[in-house]
Amino acid sequence: MQSTLLALETSCDETSAAIISGGKILANIVATQEIHSQYGGVIPELASRNHDLFIASVTQEALNKANKELKDLDAVAVTQGPGLLGALLVGNTFAKGLSWGLSIPLIGVNHLQAHISALFIDYPNPSFPIIVLLVSGGHTQLIKINCHTDYELLGQTIDDAAGEAYDKTAKLLGLPYPGGQHIDRLAKTGNPNAFSFPEPKVPGLNFSFSGLKTSILYFVNEQSLHSHDFVNRNLNDLCASIQNTINNYLTNKLIKAVKQHNPKGIAIVGGVSANSDLRKRMVDLGNQISVNVLIPKFEYCTDNAAMIAMAAHYAYEKRQFIGLESIPFTRDMI
Ligand code: KG4
Ligand code: ZN
Repeated sequence: MQSTLLALETSCDETSAAIISGGKILANIVATQEIHSQYGGVIPELASRNHDLFIASVTQEALNKANKELKDLDAVAVTQGPGLLGALLVGNTFAKGLSWGLSIPLIGVNHLQAHISALFIDYPNPSFPIIVLLVSGGHTQLIKINCHTDYELLGQTIDDAAGEAYDKTAKLLGLPYPGGQHIDRLAKTGNPNAFSFPEPKVPGLNFSFSGLKTSILYFVNEQSLHSHDFVNRNLNDLCASIQNTINNYLTNKLIKAVKQHNPKGIAIVGGVSANSDLRKRMVDLGNQISVNVLIPKFEYCTDNAAMIAMAAHYAYEKRQFIGLESIPFTRDMI
């Protein structure tokens, strides 16, 4: 009998539910909380309240789409962390209610590991090891994965995440939150070499993005003093140059990790892996160094419950369950 799991994601501003059966995703419903864009960032209290509003209907929609009922579920999985505490509490409390009410096990999923599991939705049996560049709004990490469930952290950002670098620079160009996708769109018709920004210098496989953000801020402010509509006149070139700087930096670190670890494949996951230039660079790099390239479909890049479901599928196989007394965690744990 194939096991059927419900998975829930409420760590930030997406309320999402997915159904997985026998390792296949049957439904993945994502309600993105648009309300935060008017504030230029995620407001934690609003996120919690909106998860509370949406979670039951999003879950029902996932069940309907998968043609399943609550009685068909073998387990319920939920993002246990890292994330916003109030937001996580909504998902965890809802999942515990279902686990208790239906007498089925509860699976706690690490959000970062789930971003990696998103790869296995479309590549169920890749050749290992794989070097993964995890780039999201809250994290930037290089991870070596030795099998579906064995992850080794090689390096990470010491300050801002790559997604934050995109969002903060987009904000100073006057673009809406979250800005990564707007930079991506506007960069398509810009010149990536129009402006150059210094590549951050951090040894080894760690990253830093806060200095880059500051140097772009100073540059834009200074140019705007001479010509007040500098940003508007150069918007596409600015976006292309910023994207070029961030993606050059990311891929240079990835190449360094590849040289050190000699993997069979390279991969990108997390919200920033939706970036069209970064996706193209990965394919080019894979061809150049003759390794497999794994990139999730767009809908599995930004936060979604399908990736939680995929991670839960492996946890269920190993009977890795958590108790009703478990609590969410807000810090990174990979
Ligand atoms: O993984 P994610 O949905 O949420 C976190 O776990 O943080 O990542 C969100 C991040 C945001 O910073 C957003 O601007 C960025 O992913 N992002 C992009 C693109 N689409 C989303 N960054 C660059 N280019 C994109 N196309
Ligand atoms: Zn995420």
